[in-house]
Amino acid sequence: MDVFASVARSIVAQAGSRLRVAWGESKVIEHKSAIDIVTQTDREVEALVAGELRNAFPDHLIVAEEASAGSALQPPPAERYVWYLDPLDGTTNFAHAHPHFAISLALARGGDVLLGIVHDPVRHETFLARRGGGATLNDQPLHVSAVDDLEQALIGTGFPYDRREHLGFYLGFLADFMRRAQGVRRAGSAALDLCYVACGRLDGFWEWKLKPWDTAAGALIVAEAGGTVTDFRGGPFDLYGPQTLASNGGLHAVMINTLSAGLSSSPPPDTRG
Ligand code: IPD
Ligand code: CA
Ligand code: CA
Repeated sequence: MDVFASVARSIVAQAGSRLRVAWGESKVIEHKSAIDIVTQTDREVEALVAGELRNAFPDHLIVAEEASAGSALQPPPAERYVWYLDPLDGTTNFAHAHPHFAISLALARGGDVLLGIVHDPVRHETFLARRGGGATLNDQPLHVSAVDDLEQALIGTGFPYDRREHLGFYLGFLADFMRRAQGVRRAGSAALDLCYVACGRLDGFWEWKLKPWDTAAGALIVAEAGGTVTDFRGGPFDLYGPQTLASNGGLHAVMINTLSAGLSSSPPPDTRG
């Protein structure tokens, strides 16, 4: 695992430098839909990281956001190593020069995430976890918060790109947390949201319809920092499923309870890749 981790760290550092430089420059933006955008930097960083991974590990699979656009996502064969790559998580922030975005890279095999790295190039923060080996932030061990009362909790969330079509559905969950939590944040990078749960800057997080490249690294980092990641009913977290619920563990039951009211109406279909 250390070979994988050291190669991945060095590739992520290179990608981070590229993101940091590009962040200060003018952006070339394309629209995947009215509100879902991609910049030239997303594509360039994805090509850089995927190219380096292919050189280092030619027999590994790579599931990367931009290369996967438009294709149906399916779990890879269990015996293959697979890298999940989001070259730029927080593209909307990046496009607006809002300083909150990251690169997310994870290695999985047989459905288990073995290694996760999330790098924030603006704050120079690297979150890393190895399965069974704990989680670190810039090489210092990190741990989830001890908050166990939702009224004292800061909760993160985000909204999928079909939110205009299903606004009422998504707002129901937001309203329930706004009623019961101390505060709710929508920061715009799911990978960083998960890392913030891992290091106690958030106490919990929920979001619909995240993709494996958004969550693979961050979910391992939460688990290795002592937190809990499941679906909205407390069932096993599925990288390919539509529900991500992460918490410090102590808040998990009350978060499941808070989400349950909204789950009585049927969730909107997943119409976008
Ligand atoms: C998005 C961000 C955002 C989340 C969206 C994601 P992108 O990823 O993680 O926080 O709310 O659901 O799609 O498009 O910036 O890579
Ligand atoms: Ca993303
Ligand atoms: Ca992205």
